Amino acid sequence: MSRSHHATSPAPATGRTATASLPVLSPADTARLLGSGLGPIVAQGVIARRPLVVAAAGKAGTDDRSVRLLQELRDRYGDGPVRVPVPGRPAALVLDAGGVRRVLTEGPEPFAPASWEKRGALRQFQPHGVLVSHGEARAERRRFTEAVLDTGSPLHAEASHIAEVARAETAALRDDAARRGAFGWDGFVTTWWRIVRRIVLGDGARDDHALTDTLTRLRRRGNWSFLVPRRDDLHERFASGVRDHLERAEPGSLAARIAQVDPGPGSAVTPEDQIGHWLFAWDPGAAVTLRALALLATHPEVRGRARAEAAAPSPGGPPELPVLRATVLESTRLWPTTPLLLRESTADTSWPGGTLAAGTSLLVPTWYLHRDDRRRADADRLDVEQWLDGGAADDWMLTPFSGGIGACPGRELVLFVASTVLATLLDGHHAVLLPPESFDASRPLPRGLNPYALRLGLSRAAR
Ligand code: HEM
Repeated sequence: MSRSHHATSPAPATGRTATASLPVLSPADTARLLGSGLGPIVAQGVIARRPLVVAAAGKAGTDDRSVRLLQELRDRYGDGPVRVPVPGRPAALVLDAGGVRRVLTEGPEPFAPASWEKRGALRQFQPHGVLVSHGEARAERRRFTEAVLDTGSPLHAEASHIAEVARAETAALRDDAARRGAFGWDGFVTTWWRIVRRIVLGDGARDDHALTDTLTRLRRRGNWSFLVPRRDDLHERFASGVRDHLERAEPGSLAARIAQVDPGPGSAVTPEDQIGHWLFAWDPGAAVTLRALALLATHPEVRGRARAEAAAPSPGGPPELPVLRATVLESTRLWPTTPLLLRESTADTSWPGGTLAAGTSLLVPTWYLHRDDRRRADADRLDVEQWLDGGAADDWMLTPFSGGIGACPGRELVLFVASTVLATLLDGHHAVLLPPESFDASRPLPRGLNPYALRLGLSRAAR
């Protein structure tokens, strides 16, 4: 992956008008986009989800409405970029695969991942995270991140240890849920965080709920971006908690890898800041995994294949579980946890229809692109095949883990953990989706699926 090494920050918004005539949303359509498309996404919490707002959005059907709105706008304005005349902040919607590929791969110049909005939101808990970095600092932080996370390897170097941790914690949840008959978000997320803290920081962090709670408080402040001041005291409490765990460098944990990769003094990498992002990023992983279980519970054919692959002998180490991975990927496609990818242009950029001024925010609405039933036959149904045969990898309409230079470096690791958790939940057990959610393989899947309301029945399967 090639990266440029300029030490500059992304250019500030210039407010200049584009020189040629790219389509511009009318004031009425801009208001509709902000009100029905972007507003609900921001209101649900960009950095830390707000469960009550997520539930209200589900009841109001905002996800469905916003897909239809984007379909209508694309019919009338074309594939884009379609300029969105927000006062003081030039923005443009990218609505086709070619445009998505361009803004994600041509960076960090002229399309910088470290957009103004992200810098505002993430400065609370990872002011030096790779996502909000630019130039040489970004390149160095990205190299460090890839080395520790084993980016691109389906099985992390510590996969055996990671699988052992994921299986042991999940088996305890599963057996308890089977005794009670059901489980939901609260039980699942407690187990998930134990797994995450053990994998990232070591067994000694297993029950350090206080650390995760401090991060959640910082993330809630991140929802308000530049509107609230930084809480340096809270950030320092989180960072020093992380440093204490890192010092143990427990074998098998990512903390031990960090000690090996040690960036050394004078480096732009502060491990505790990178870990701030990693821990934050595991959170959507919980929602994605629980939704994937709901998919498996309602799709017997895929479930059968997933069970068979999990039961197959794997003498060389933990299995890769491709069908379960594909189901998790489908969960991220159907209900993307980053519904909007943002890039900020650092220079004027030319497009077939005209020029976009430097400082424009480019908006990639994954929630719509993944679910556009006018362009995708699979829009509203489970389609694991496209991840198994590689079709989805070449499809720039599908970017649940982003793509190009800012693609998620934790993708393989989280897919591995999620699929190992799912295999353990299904091992010898039968799962059913319980109300209030209700869907099945014969109907279009809902466009919103509130993970906090999910309830799964679990019982021992007859052998
Ligand atoms: C299901 C879980 C996850 C999803 C859906 C996901 C998705 C994404 C997406 C969409 C981006 C790009 C954001 C952008 O373009 O602005 C991203 C970036 C990133 N993710 Fe993930 N992620 C997940 C889990 C993880 C985990 C577990 C880690 C670390 C252990 C991680 C580490 C990162 C980092 C460091 C970046 C910034 C990369 C850069 O700017 O170069 N992610 N992720």
